[in-house]
Amino acid sequence: MAGTPLDAFRSQLAEVYRDAAAALAAAQDAASLEAARVEFAGAKSGRIKAAQKLLGDIDVADKPAAGKLFNETKAAVSALLEAAQDRLAGSAKPALEPVDVTLPGEPVRLGHLHPITQTIRRVQEIMGRLGFESVDGPEVEDQWHNFEALAIPSEHPARDPLDNFYLATARATDPLLLRSQTSTVQIRVMENREPPLRIVSLGRVYRPDTADATHYPMFHQVEGLLVEPGITMAHLKSVLRLFASSFLGGDVHVRFRPSFFPFTEPSVEVDMEWGGRWIEMGGAGMVDPAVFKAVGYDPDVVSGFAFGLGVERIAARRYGVDDIRDFYRNDVRFLRQF
Ligand code: FA5
Repeated sequence: MAGTPLDAFRSQLAEVYRDAAAALAAAQDAASLEAARVEFAGAKSGRIKAAQKLLGDIDVADKPAAGKLFNETKAAVSALLEAAQDRLAGSAKPALEPVDVTLPGEPVRLGHLHPITQTIRRVQEIMGRLGFESVDGPEVEDQWHNFEALAIPSEHPARDPLDNFYLATARATDPLLLRSQTSTVQIRVMENREPPLRIVSLGRVYRPDTADATHYPMFHQVEGLLVEPGITMAHLKSVLRLFASSFLGGDVHVRFRPSFFPFTEPSVEVDMEWGGRWIEMGGAGMVDPAVFKAVGYDPDVVSGFAFGLGVERIAARRYGVDDIRDFYRNDVRFLRQF
């Protein structure tokens, strides 16, 4: 019995699929694969295309079934073709190098803390042994904590916009700024606690200074504050000398030069000599009575000293670095040395 056009169509598709499977399995190189692709999936005269033309002869009632069969066969041949392409592409890759599992592994390079962070931690540790607790304060400050409470009145040149990074926020009467010194933290701590106090605060400060070997617009300070009855400049110098000899080594000298800060009286510049060179490290002095009054302490009862040193300067001294800008160039060849 002669089959319907659908039967003939079905067996033709089956044959195409069988032949395609055989040809693709036999293809061992790119040329034979391409020949098989053209024979079966060629856009103009491929055998799939030829079968598609027969769809026109199928009875209308059988058209949906025939169309479905055609699509399935076409997809199956495409899948065979892709598999054969993958197989040949895989075999074209060079064989993997054998691995000698007895060889030692590649060493993993460990990072370490930045020298400034190391310095900060070391200072905290040394000052901790002297009984100074580490505290933090905000880097964005108001006029009261950065200036006013530190006896720096509004007409004082230290408040000049050219010497500070004021923030462009709408607070006309009390503009905020990036703190220019860590002395702000003295105020914040004294406002919230009662004496006696021994604190250190290490953190970033900002000034529009031109960068050179000893200046950077962002740098760190270590602020120390001690408030107890009967404190004198002798205590200040002892603490700074103990700190310097612990941090830099036994043969360091500390020198005070008379100076002026609005929030200490008397005030001094602190220089340190180490390896034959004197370097200015910071400022210090006895806390001014006006500051004690501003935070609600009675200046007739309490006394104290405060100091503020540049962290980059003491780190440079310790590590023998000539230019503090090197700390911030982010050159790992430099940083790796510490
Ligand atoms: C002060 O900032 C005072 N607050 C210090 C102080 C604290 C005095 C407590 C009295 C009592 P001065 O502006 O001198 O002082 O800065 C202190 C130190 O910060 C300097 O000696 C220096 O070591 C460091 N320093 C200042 N400007 C820079 C800068 N642009 N880059 C790096 N370090 C700097």
